[in-house]
Parts: sequence; C-alpha cells; structure tokens
Amino acid sequence: MRSRMSPAFKLQCHFILIFLGALRGETRYLELREVAEADPLLLFNTDLKRELSEEQLYHRSLRCIDMLSIEGQFTFTAEQPQLQCAAFFIGEPEEVISIQYDLVSVDCQGGDFLKVFDGWILKGEKFPSSQDHPLPMSDRYIDFCESENIRTFSSSQNVAMIFFRIHEPGNGFTITVKKNPNLFPCNVISQTPNGRFTMVIPHQHRNCSFSIIYPVVIKISDLILGHLNGLQLKKPSVGCGGIGDFVELLGGTGLDPSKMMPFADLCYPFHGPAQLTIGCDNTVVRMVSSGKHVNRVTFEYHQLEPYDLGSPSGNSIKEYCFPSI
Ligand SMILES: *[C@@H]1O[C@H](CO)[C@@H](O)[C@H](O)[C@H]1NC(C)=O
Repeated sequence: MRSRMSPAFKLQCHFILIFLGALRGETRYLELREVAEADPLLLFNTDLKRELSEEQLYHRSLRCIDMLSIEGQFTFTAEQPQLQCAAFFIGEPEEVISIQYDLVSVDCQGGDFLKVFDGWILKGEKFPSSQDHPLPMSDRYIDFCESENIRTFSSSQNVAMIFFRIHEPGNGFTITVKKNPNLFPCNVISQTPNGRFTMVIPHQHRNCSFSIIYPVVIKISDLILGHLNGLQLKKPSVGCGGIGDFVELLGGTGLDPSKMMPFADLCYPFHGPAQLTIGCDNTVVRMVSSGKHVNRVTFEYHQLEPYDLGSPSGNSIKEYCFPSI
C-alpha cells in the first residue's frame, strides 16, 4: 500500500497545525466577550448592548496565507503584488461559515480576483469531494469580479475559503466572517485531532464525510443503517460491494475523500466498539445513504501516538497507513 505523503502537503499541514494552535489562544477573546455580555447592567439597555457587541467585533488584518476559526472582521491590504493568497475558515462541526464583503477594492480588469470556495482546496484536492457535496463544482466558486452583486455567501459545511490575487499595493478588501448553526451537519473537517461525533443522515439520498487531518485511532461505537433485521447477512464476507447504504473508513495523503484508500467497509448494523488505527495524514469516516433509512454512526478518535502501534519496530509512524480492526 502507498503510504508516503508529499513533502509539500506535509508542509501545508504543518501550516494548518500551527495556525490552529495559534488560533486557540484567540478564542479566549470570545469568552471574555460572553462574560461582558452577561453583566446585568448591560442587559438592561439593549441598544447599549448592541453597540457594545458591534464595537467588540473582533478585528484583525488578514495575511496572504491565513487560517481562521473565529468570527470577526478581517482586512487584507496588499503591501506588494500578492498573486497567490488563500484564507481558510473553519468552525465547529455544527456550524456553517458566512462571509460578507464589507469593502472591496480590487482591479478586476487588471487581473485581480477574489473568490469564495464552498469547502477547502489544498494542493488541488477538494473537500467535500464532488461525490459528497450537494452543489455542482461550478456553483461552489463565486468570483467577486464576475458577480459583484453577491455580497454575502454561506457555506454548506464547517469549512470555507477565499482565494485572492491583488496586483496593486494599497488595494484589498474587508470581510466579516460569522458562524451560524447547522442542525444536520453532513460534511465536516475536525478542528481538533481528538473528538467524538455522531453522523446522522435522516432519509436523505446523500453522502457525508467527516475528515480528520491527522493520523488517528478511531473507535466506532454504534452503527445503525436502517435495516436492523439482518436481511443482508447472506454474504457477510464479500464486503459491502459499494451497494446500498454503508459506512467506509478512508485514509490518504490529500483532502479529497474520493481519492483516498478505503480501509474498511461497514454495511451491517452493530454496537461496537470496533477500533481502527489509520496512520495516514488524513482520515475520513464516510457514509453513503440511499435515503431509504435513517442512518447513524457514532465514533470517537484521538491522534495516533507511538504507543498505539504496539511495539514500534519501525521508527516512523508515517510509514504506516494500514487497517487493523
Ligand atoms: C454517493 O457516492 C457514491 C459513490 O460512493 C456515488 O455513486 C453516488 O452518486 C453519491 N450520491 C450522491 C447523492 O451524490
């Protein structure tokens, strides 16, 4: 099996990890804001409260390559020609991202662009993949220069990004980023290497992928695929054959679940736990749903540590990209 990741992708991942780490510090700001808003004297006067929350909208400048997990207003100003910039936004699994253009000063005729993408793209790989996203690929990009009347955008999942190219120093833009609740999260990138999630697809013909951008140990504790009566028990050893409703575990080096290696197929309901160690850079739990059933899978995961591999005979975890149910 293939197991090596390209050095470039590794670098990108390190970028993300560093940014996510730095951003955790900034979430403390939001907690402070909540404390301020709970002050009874302020609740007294709603106008004052509104002014306060507007005033306290978090502001900062945006870097050419950036990663954000908090709400706020962000401004980019080019100090030199910036030809390849991207900002990644991420929320909690139960959130979607909204992006509003407050001020845009770019030279569309001169070759600048400012695009929103519904998902993430890293090294040409997209999340969610086209097999999992409700919209066709062309509808997932919105270029400010081609549709200047569209000032706000809402993502379909907890990640979104913008790309931009600005030639003229001094040009730039300001955006406001907010996070809104999503009652039925489908596609998700986990913000953290450890966590627990229940994916539910209630009578919908769609596919959902939960992506963890770390090597992990996953424990599946519960799987319900509508048909509880063991109708399909005749051929248990053949695998699911990609037919009907099933859950698959994927591992790989890029973001796109449709390009990752399937390590396990689960098409029979069970109460776990079943444990899987995936020593790949990226791990995905994916559910394919016909819409005939209410499907649900619960799993927890933690970052792969050397001790998870038993006796570590090799010296690098990254050499492993294997299933071990
Ligand atoms: C879900 O994914 C499968 C492949 O795994 C694909 O054949 C099918 O068309 C997808 N369904 C939807 C609704 O996109």
